[in-house]
Amino acid sequence: MNLKAHQPDSLPAPGPSALAQSEALVAEIRARLDEAGGWLPFDRYMERALYAPGLGYYSGGARKFGLRGDDGSDFVTAPELSPLFAATLARPVAEALQASGTRDVMEFGAGTGKLAAGLLNALDALSASGVEFDSYSIVDLSGELRERQRETIAAAAPALLAKVRWLDALPERFEGVVIGNEVLDAMPVRLFAHTGGIWHERGVVWRDGAFAFDDRPVQAASDLALLAEIDTTGAAGEDYVTETHEAASAFTRTICTMLARGAILLIDYGFPRHEYYHGQRAQGTLMCHYRHRAHGDPFLYPGLQDITAHVEFTGIAEAGVETGADLLGFTSQARFLLNAGITEALGEIDPADTARFLPAANAVQKLLSEAEMGELFKVIAFSRGLDDTLQAFSSGDRSHTL
Ligand SMILES: C[S@@+](CC[C@H](N)C(=O)[O-])C[C@H]1O[C@@H](n2cnc3c(N)ncnc32)[C@H](O)[C@@H]1O
Repeated sequence: MNLKAHQPDSLPAPGPSALAQSEALVAEIRARLDEAGGWLPFDRYMERALYAPGLGYYSGGARKFGLRGDDGSDFVTAPELSPLFAATLARPVAEALQASGTRDVMEFGAGTGKLAAGLLNALDALSASGVEFDSYSIVDLSGELRERQRETIAAAAPALLAKVRWLDALPERFEGVVIGNEVLDAMPVRLFAHTGGIWHERGVVWRDGAFAFDDRPVQAASDLALLAEIDTTGAAGEDYVTETHEAASAFTRTICTMLARGAILLIDYGFPRHEYYHGQRAQGTLMCHYRHRAHGDPFLYPGLQDITAHVEFTGIAEAGVETGADLLGFTSQARFLLNAGITEALGEIDPADTARFLPAANAVQKLLSEAEMGELFKVIAFSRGLDDTLQAFSSGDRSHTL
């Protein structure tokens, strides 16, 4: 198998052990392809590429999160960008704990542990104003990240490490505040292509020594019903390609069912359905990240690169509300962070201390700017047993756009 054949010239090549891991994953996925008769829906491929135990991108040893390509990382997330993200998020988390009379936090997909460490410290600092919390549970499909998370928290919040626990399975019910930053976008999606006037499901085959896309006409009535709502006119003679998000909806249903009292805050990039399935978004949102370069080939170095799709937030809202949870709010990351006081948090840093202030101000600009993360990223929140919304949704709530 010649993985190099896939390598766009501009991308740095992986080392030999990473390549060996990728080849092992390719063999594993090929075995599944054979079992399935030679064709796998894309979500099955994506699930293996990201989460196959020991081999997938999130479950193997890749560096993943970081600021630069030369440290071996592939992308940067808000908690990695600045500690002010966690410090600001701590305010709505604290408000929801107090409003619901609960004392436990649960984080999904905790990455390097930076958000956890920042939230632990910020919540602890708020104890002076009566915020109390007992535990911080972390749930991640990637067991490999646990050690890294423990080290981050032990270094940045040593006195609070005793409150942290790692869960292997979800509790049946949870009272408290659930958070997840960039978790929904890491869930497998199905791909569909509108070609020759009909909808096809875009799956994966093995062809000429490599994985390749292969389209099959859609038969299932439930798939056709959703696809019928999509305006494909923007493709103008080309294929219209898009995604559906069964795994993210199922996840939302599960955590909203689990929530007996409290709130859930999910932060991610994406759009409401009418924008997501817009005629002009004709190439879908599937995206791969390798060493801080974004590209569109999910078959490049399986297991060594991130594969992601934007979140379709109307589907997420529907999945949550179906369980009887309340939709607490939906807004842009910029509006959410501004309402939650990020500028005040920045104001606490002395501008004369340029070594601290300038990077912090740059990061805040990135988190808020419309051209960067401020508008593309959204926050959706659900609640159970909360009477009022949170300060962070007090202005600019866009729930009506879902
Ligand atoms: C893009 S990373 C984001 C990491 C971190 N939250 C951050 O912002 O830096 C996505 C994370 O979500 C985790 N994840 C995906 N699906 C999950 C699920 N169903 N339950 C728990 N974690 C999940 C992945 O293992 C991965 O660690």
